[in-house]
Formats: sequence, C-alpha cells, structure tokens
Amino acid sequence: MRRAQRRLVRTGIIGLGVGEKHIAGYRRHAACEVVALCDFDAKKRAEARRKYPGLAVCANADEILDDPGIDAVSIASYDNYHHDQIVKALANNKHVFVEKPLCQSEGEAKGIRRLLRGKPRLVLSSNLILRMSPRFQWLRKAITQGKLGVPYFIEGDYNYGRLHKITAGWRGKLDFYSVVQGGAVHVIDLLMWLTNDRVVEVAAFGNRIASAHSRFKHDDMVVGILKFRSGMVGKVSANFGCVFPHFHTLSVYGTRGTFVNGLDHGQLFKSREPGVPPAKVALPYPGVEKGDLIYNFVETILGRAEPAVPVDDVFAAMSVCFALDKAAKSRRCVSVDCL
Ligand SMILES: NC(=O)c1ccc[n+]([C@@H]2O[C@H](COP(=O)([O-])OP(=O)(O)OC[C@H]3O[C@@H](n4cnc5c(N)ncnc54)[C@H](O)[C@@H]3O)[C@@H](O)[C@H]2O)c1
Repeated sequence: MRRAQRRLVRTGIIGLGVGEKHIAGYRRHAACEVVALCDFDAKKRAEARRKYPGLAVCANADEILDDPGIDAVSIASYDNYHHDQIVKALANNKHVFVEKPLCQSEGEAKGIRRLLRGKPRLVLSSNLILRMSPRFQWLRKAITQGKLGVPYFIEGDYNYGRLHKITAGWRGKLDFYSVVQGGAVHVIDLLMWLTNDRVVEVAAFGNRIASAHSRFKHDDMVVGILKFRSGMVGKVSANFGCVFPHFHTLSVYGTRGTFVNGLDHGQLFKSREPGVPPAKVALPYPGVEKGDLIYNFVETILGRAEPAVPVDDVFAAMSVCFALDKAAKSRRCVSVDCL
C-alpha cells in the first residue's frame, strides 16, 4: 500500500481473547487501521484468518512489536507477558494500549515509567473500562457537582464470580497471579477516578479458602482498607471465589447523600429521614464493550483528545495494587509509593 493511501494509525493486537474485542474499537475510528493479529494458539490463529481475511496473523508477538509499519499495539496477552511486550513496543516507538494489569511488579512498573519519560510523545493507556459505564459516569458528575456533599467513605468489591478461571485457566498456571492486580485494579481506579482523590496508605488481609485443594496457589480473596489523601477512607476487595454474579459493588457515602450500586439499578439516598425512598439510577451498568476506550486512545495519539485513562492514573492504580499485595503479605500498613 502506498504511504499516501495509508490510514493514520496502523495497529496490531497481541492475544485474541479479550483482545479480539479491541478490533471493533479500532475499526470504529476512521483514521485507524488494524493490520496484524497475533496469538500463540494455532486454533485462535486459524479462527482469526477465517474471521478477518486480509489481516496478517502471526504466532510470535515480535513480528508486531518489531514491525516499523505499526504505530500502536494492543497488548492483551497473559499478565506475565505484558511488561516485556510493553518495553519492546515503547523501545520501537509504538503507542501502547495494554489490558489490565499493566505489569506484575513494582520494579517492572518503574522500568516502564522510566522508558516513557524518555519518550513523552508516546501514549500509554490501559483498559480500565469501568470509566465508560454510563451509571458510573453519571455518578462521577454527581459527585463533582457536590450532589453527595463531601465523600468520606467509599467501598467497592470486584466480585469475579468465575472461580474456574483461576482454578482451571491460565491464571492458575502462572508462577505469580494477583487477584488485586487482575481484578480489584478496576475498582481501585474507579474509587480514585470517581472522587478525584488518591490512595496514600493501605492495610489488607487475604485468604485462599474458596480455591483450596486446587492448583491455584495465591490468595483468591483480598480485602483492603484504604486511606485517601483527602482524609476519606475506603475499602476494596478482590473476591474471585464468590458464589455471586460478576459484579462491582460500590457505595459512596457523602455528607449530603449516598449512592449504592445494585444488581438491578443504582440508588441515590438524599435524606436521613426514615421512609424517604432513594432515587432510582437506572442508567446502564456496566453498559460497555471491552473496546470502548479505544476510540479515545486513537484520538489521544492523534492529539485531538485528552486521554480517558491518563498514564498517571494507570500507574496510580497499579501503585495501590502493589501496596495492597505487600500489605496482605506483611500484615502491616503500607504507604503507597506513587510510581
Ligand atoms: N479489561 C478487562 O475488563 C479485561 C477482561 C478480561 C481480560 N483482561 C485481561 O486481558 C488479558 C488476557 O486475558 P483473556 O481473558 O483475554 O484471556 P484468554 O485466555 O481468553 O485469551 C488470551 C489469548 O491470548 C493468547 N496469548 C497469551 N499470551 C500470548 C503471547 N505472549 N503471545 C501471543 N498470544 C498470547 C492466548 O493464546 C489466548 O488466545 C489478561 O491480562 C487479562 O487480565 C482484561
């Protein structure tokens, strides 16, 4: 294809589980073209060739990461590959949209941060998709407008509801897997984004009762207490073994109102008087597709929009994850080192 005919942003996608959902996200943007897909599973590659004729399909991620014709990559491989693939992509001057978690350790995150500082033109974002939920977008606006007064307590749970994914899937086969990084990160980001606040200190406990007798060797349940910069306190949990639908519980308590997310709808309590019913918040939840942040990622690359998930927020959420894992292990309060 001649350069003049090329679309502006050429992308490649690594990992065709949730990564396949990224294709629709990129295709929604007129200035973007998906050119290559990668999966090390032969069955996935055969399926991809059938479903997406015309796209290059490869087994080795380096073919995408080393391709000078590719401007941006989606990294949707297993968690343990994210760091090395991000490093290679950045070293080769590619923008990065990485599935959560960004990486698996503080040392890895620091390395990525260092690389990014030397390449300020590059955009890095992560698929912290709850930010696109209409119900949570409404809530953020309500909090910003002061409808709940001053938030003083916030809590959220990542109820995974899919125990088999850690006892039988790839997550259980990794040397290291953190349910905080792999699940609670969504809620941690949500709590900070909703209130425009930052977590500064944490305490945490965990167990692996729900997955006992399986090959999963890490905590499947972690609960953390959070202290925010503003003085607000919070609680977050990663509950991978629950007998409960996949759901993000969320309660925000402010001096003038309380929001509670429910399975059917949200509720907004505006009175301390008994008998005054809450207002129903029926906006869709989650109401998002996994590729919904990608349009904004491309707009950010093109310099036409502010990032919906700024790079500092990605590192802030990961910093809290690292602190929670450290706190659960050491049984001590841990300060959050913002990376
Ligand atoms: N943002 C979200 O809400 C969300 C939801 C699900 C998964 N994820 C994240 O996406 C990533 C993938 O999870 P999934 O649920 O799609 O898993 P999955 O098993 O459904 O799919 C992953 C695919 O990637 C392939 N793959 C893995 N590592 C690879 C590598 N190094 N090179 C080439 N192919 C590779 C596998 O063969 C598989 O086909 C994980 O990091 C996970 O945490 C994010």
